[in-house]
Amino acid sequence: MKIFLCVDAAQATALAGAQVQQQIMRKPESVLGFATGGTMEALYAELIRLHRHQALSFAGVRSFNLDEYLGLSGTHSHSYSHYMHQHLFDHVNIQPQHIHLLQGDAADPVVEAQAYEQRIQSVDGIDLQLLGLGENGHIGFNEPSSSLASRTRVKRLAPDTLAANQRYFSADISQPTHALTMGIGTIMDARQVVMLALGTKKADAVAHMIEGPISARWPASVLQMHPQTTVILDAPAAQHLACRDYYTAVHPMGLVE
Ligand code: F6R
Repeated sequence: MKIFLCVDAAQATALAGAQVQQQIMRKPESVLGFATGGTMEALYAELIRLHRHQALSFAGVRSFNLDEYLGLSGTHSHSYSHYMHQHLFDHVNIQPQHIHLLQGDAADPVVEAQAYEQRIQSVDGIDLQLLGLGENGHIGFNEPSSSLASRTRVKRLAPDTLAANQRYFSADISQPTHALTMGIGTIMDARQVVMLALGTKKADAVAHMIEGPISARWPASVLQMHPQTTVILDAPAAQHLACRDYYTAVHPMGLVE
């Protein structure tokens, strides 16, 4: 695990953007795994900036999103499909036929989940998977107790996840209680993982993920077993790490190999 401790959220976000940029420059036909949520918004703004000002091209990129709320159609204003178009897809030159999103309103979510796994396999897997981190340690919507070998499936959202995401819903749009999500095994199959976690609220989960035992209680801790994971943190998110000085010595400001 590479651990990049950044001074602030802006530096961490720029560094995560640079990881994506390097991947696309290495392989213009990269298969990217995208996440949603508040943390990713600034990262997608950075990718749009790189597209506009540094000619970063998404023309060959194929994408797979991590998750989608069960029951919401892709055009629903609160779907992750809508989020992705709003925050990234509508602003870069990704080809519509290269975008893969889970269909939250699929007639049969089990069939949808299996078909999604097959679609990932049919493009030879994900080159780089972006991840955010839940306050409870989830990745995707793999909540505590998720099998560390799980594949894409329906998950019931944990109470703390519902509470954390309640801010996006209003009285007239009820908050979904379930989601379709890539499994932990699906995420672990990605050739490279880049995790961006920011802010004090993530500090406990970050410490369990990096320095705790591998456990389904903190699903992100499984990334300790992934051969190519980069974790990018700001100072508040890193505050409970015991070995901060060591991580900084290995990757000063996240800039040195
Ligand atoms: C969403 C997802 C989630 C979020 C996580 C952090 O696609 O995969 O795991 O990354 O809940 O969300 P924020 O960034 O809103 O704190």
